[in-house]
Amino acid sequence: MGVLKTKTNKEKIMSKYRILVLNGPNLGFLGRRQPEIYGNKGMDALPGLLEELMGESAREVELLFFQANGEGELIDRLESAYKDGVHGVAFNAGAYTHTSLALADCLAWIKIPCVEVHLSNVWARSEPLRHKSLIAPSCVGVVSGFGMDSYALAVQALYRHLEQNQKK
Ligand code: DQA
Repeated sequence: MGVLKTKTNKEKIMSKYRILVLNGPNLGFLGRRQPEIYGNKGMDALPGLLEELMGESAREVELLFFQANGEGELIDRLESAYKDGVHGVAFNAGAYTHTSLALADCLAWIKIPCVEVHLSNVWARSEPLRHKSLIAPSCVGVVSGFGMDSYALAVQALYRHLEQNQKK
């Protein structure tokens, strides 16, 4: 379990959206876990990648980080995001993506816009179980296969989604 701090208080005041970057089991050692599959960048690379991708608009996003190996802790964090009015979730549920009805049930009722994230291209992997996602039906979309860029692309997609829905 872990929380990464990214922005100064001044930067947070400028933020329009709070987006939770939520990581599930075995994602606490990114950069060290099977780098041939998951790449060699850690979560600390995300703010820089986001700035490259989004330029000035990256300042409008406050990133909240959380990682847990247990299903219950992930549900607790999603419930507290709901209570706190978090605007979006970029969620790499790891192996729970393929197995967790409990996480799918949680996303289905809290209704925070969520993007499913994977570092690897799960559909290109050899295990058929990885080709199935229980959480995708409760997500606005899926980004898979771009290493750490998957997270940055997911946050950018959430930002655009939130901007578009606000205008309606
Ligand atoms: C993963 C893909 C999952 O199948 C796997 O169980 C993970 C990581 C990814 O980011 O590529 O733990 O979510």
